[in-house]
Amino acid sequence: LARGVQEPDLRGRHVVVSAGGTREPLDPVRFLGNRSSGKQGYALARTAAARGARVTLIAANTQLPDPAGVDVVQVGTAVQLREAVLKAAADADAVVMAAAVADFRPSAYATGKIKKKDGKEPEPIVLVRNPDILAEVSAERARAGQVIVGFAAETDDVLANGRAKLTRKGCDLLVVNEVGERKTFGSEENEAVVLGADGSEKPVPHGPKEALADIVWDLVVDRLD
Ligand code: CTP
Ligand code: CA
Repeated sequence: LARGVQEPDLRGRHVVVSAGGTREPLDPVRFLGNRSSGKQGYALARTAAARGARVTLIAANTQLPDPAGVDVVQVGTAVQLREAVLKAAADADAVVMAAAVADFRPSAYATGKIKKKDGKEPEPIVLVRNPDILAEVSAERARAGQVIVGFAAETDDVLANGRAKLTRKGCDLLVVNEVGERKTFGSEENEAVVLGADGSEKPVPHGPKEALADIVWDLVVDRLD
């Protein structure tokens, strides 16, 4: 499908996209977070809407305007993101997890601001694992034939790491970005390879996040019944 040509090939479909990065609070004024801008997820939501889908965008801490014609659900933490994704996924044809989900959260939340103590070193921050939302939606498949897509940023042996992650998560497609200095975070462009559970490998040249989004939807459409 040429870019700019908007075939309504997602008409009648409900797609769920998560975007942004979760924040895990330590106290009322502090959190553990990440640098995800949410731009790739928003590009996925916009392109899906342009192709006729009903779109639910689960947005974690993004600073971006709501895309027109998209249902936006705002969340903060990984646990909130999980609840929102599972709820929206119940009747979804496809789920795309573009959000950067914190792997860990502080084991305790201080209801009052954590203060320095005279002459004392700080207490260590103890972390616990967050739920793996992508693995959970992939294992559950709320609807038969539901297509599930993950994203991964990898370094070193990018393809081998991506292939292993696709298998571990149990999703249908995994968009693998190579990260390094100046690549990906906050940028307008992206370069990736999309791995399929069927063994397929689709390289996506460096280009706008919309172009990658349209390729993801092409691959999803191929897999919808
Ligand atoms: N993901 C998720 N829930 C988590 C962590 C990640 O749903 N708790 C999703 C992300 O949204 C992304 C995919 O899983 O689509 C891959 O995220 P990534 O951080 O690369 O995977 P991890 O299993 O956390 O592996 P790593 O230890 O490399 O961070
Ligand atoms: Ca992770």
